[in-house]
Amino acid sequence: MSFKDKIIKDKLPVHIAIIMDGNGRWAAKQGKDRVFGHHHGVDAVRAASEAAAELGVKYLTLYAFSTENWNRPKFEVDALMTLFVETIQNEIETLNKNNIRLNAIGDLKSLPDDNYSKLMATLEETKKNDRMMLTLAMSYSSRWEITDAVNKILDDTKSGKINAGNISESQFSEYLNTSQMPDPELLIRTSGEMRISNFLLWQIAYTELFFTSKLWPEFTKEDLYEAIVDYQNRERRFGLTSEQIKS
Ligand code: FPP
Repeated sequence: MSFKDKIIKDKLPVHIAIIMDGNGRWAAKQGKDRVFGHHHGVDAVRAASEAAAELGVKYLTLYAFSTENWNRPKFEVDALMTLFVETIQNEIETLNKNNIRLNAIGDLKSLPDDNYSKLMATLEETKKNDRMMLTLAMSYSSRWEITDAVNKILDDTKSGKINAGNISESQFSEYLNTSQMPDPELLIRTSGEMRISNFLLWQIAYTELFFTSKLWPEFTKEDLYEAIVDYQNRERRFGLTSEQIKS
């Protein structure tokens, strides 16, 4: 029985987030450079997106490039930027055909001008699609996002738009880049690393974590199904007792 057959359809996570890791190690295993790994990572992005949309997952968020990744060698950063824009542009037709909306979060203004404008144009072209929102976190880090939210809140208190000293959790969430989506129920990280690396720190307060040793370019639809089945077998307690949840 494949993992897909074990998925309980009415217990699907609404939002899945993925830390795609291991492109460089996968490439090194083939005796190739890191960029080769990123190119093959695109196939895994396609597989995960297709599998999620086919199942009926509403939000899929992929950590594509962190604010820290800017410090990688220039040739790698340049290659990644080109790969993002080319992939996104090549996939517009498929996204529209499958009714998938592309979204981006992060410090997008820090992208090179040309990449930023091409990205914005692409987001615009899929904005009416509503089967699934595919979000790419680019030049993203959670600490940047939280600091950015605090600065916006300060601006809004100064201008009198909101009351100072009385910010609720839900109000704070509205200032995050993810304001238009629910928190993820499931976060997957590939490559065997067991850390969060500055990704969605606020949003994953009660998220179930799934770590796999698969390197990102090796990640298949079946791997996504496995993570979902694992998630469905867990008891989510949100601070309550097991007995409280059962009653
Ligand atoms: C982490 O692996 C991966 C990245 C920093 C880039 C992710 C990019 C892709 C999957 C390519 C295409 C994506 C889109 C959205 C079009 P790593 O380089 O840190 O691997 P390592 O830890 O083995 O060195």
